[in-house]
Amino acid sequence: MSECKTALVTGAGSGIGAAIAERFVAAGYRVALFDINAVTVRETSARIGGPGKTIAVDGDVSNEEHVQRAVWRTVEELGSLDVLVNNAGIEIYGTVVELTEEQWDRQIGVNLKGAYLCSKHAIPQMRNGGAIIHISSAHAHVSWPRCPSYDASKAGMIGLTRAMALDHGPQGIRVNAICPGYISTPLLEKAFAIGEADREAVLKFHPLGRIGTPLDVAEATLFLASGAAAFISGAVLNVDGCLTAQGL
Ligand SMILES: NC(=O)c1ccc[n+]([C@@H]2O[C@H](COP(=O)([O-])OP(=O)(O)OC[C@H]3O[C@@H](n4cnc5c(N)ncnc54)[C@H](O)[C@@H]3O)[C@@H](O)[C@H]2O)c1
Repeated sequence: MSECKTALVTGAGSGIGAAIAERFVAAGYRVALFDINAVTVRETSARIGGPGKTIAVDGDVSNEEHVQRAVWRTVEELGSLDVLVNNAGIEIYGTVVELTEEQWDRQIGVNLKGAYLCSKHAIPQMRNGGAIIHISSAHAHVSWPRCPSYDASKAGMIGLTRAMALDHGPQGIRVNAICPGYISTPLLEKAFAIGEADREAVLKFHPLGRIGTPLDVAEATLFLASGAAAFISGAVLNVDGCLTAQGL
């Protein structure tokens, strides 16, 4: 691998993705931040790195042309692509009866198809091996009312992790998933604000006595990307303050 490694982080404009990008820059990586929000991705890129260290790419992970552009710009402008973090995600609430087909397709399109598309175009650029980390969710293991499309997308990422780890292990590419518990980010604040989650109840889900921070997830992601995790592939790491061990 090149001396300074390069990571592409999706959904890096805010929340967990921004923390992952920031932690990777602090660890010496060059980082491409890819997000649908052109404003936040530019601001975050400038705040955590800037020229020579980070680039901001705006686009939609569910759009193949946008993904190809993000991968191409990463390699062209930062020199290589060694680590992909599939973090971009949205959460659409509603039972299967309530969800429109369009909502279902959007949920699966961003969370699951986005991870497929980014992997599809990143893997051929990982010429000296690499690491892919899918940011799934505790919702891959345990459910919460009115989240069928989200839970299906996150459980799908676990199957994707195992299948990709098997297919690309011989190329020296490790593929793992992280399942965060509830993490303090704009996505969770929105769930509180619209009444789809209750702050006190969510706190009680975590036997460690607190909601997670984006940095909790960023540290685990950096570990899985690093040489310290050289023999870990096809694994699912819960970063959830003991939530799934307890059950909801
Ligand atoms: N916050 C939590 O409690 C929690 C728990 C478990 C898993 N997760 C997962 O972690 C990931 C990050 O969540 P977060 O809480 O930081 O959310 P967030 O809303 O703060 O950040 C998500 C980012 O993804 C970007 N994004 C959305 N759709 C996109 C698209 N189509 N293409 C590119 N970028 C897009 C958004 O603009 C945003 O910057 C998501 O996949 C989420 O499902 C979050």
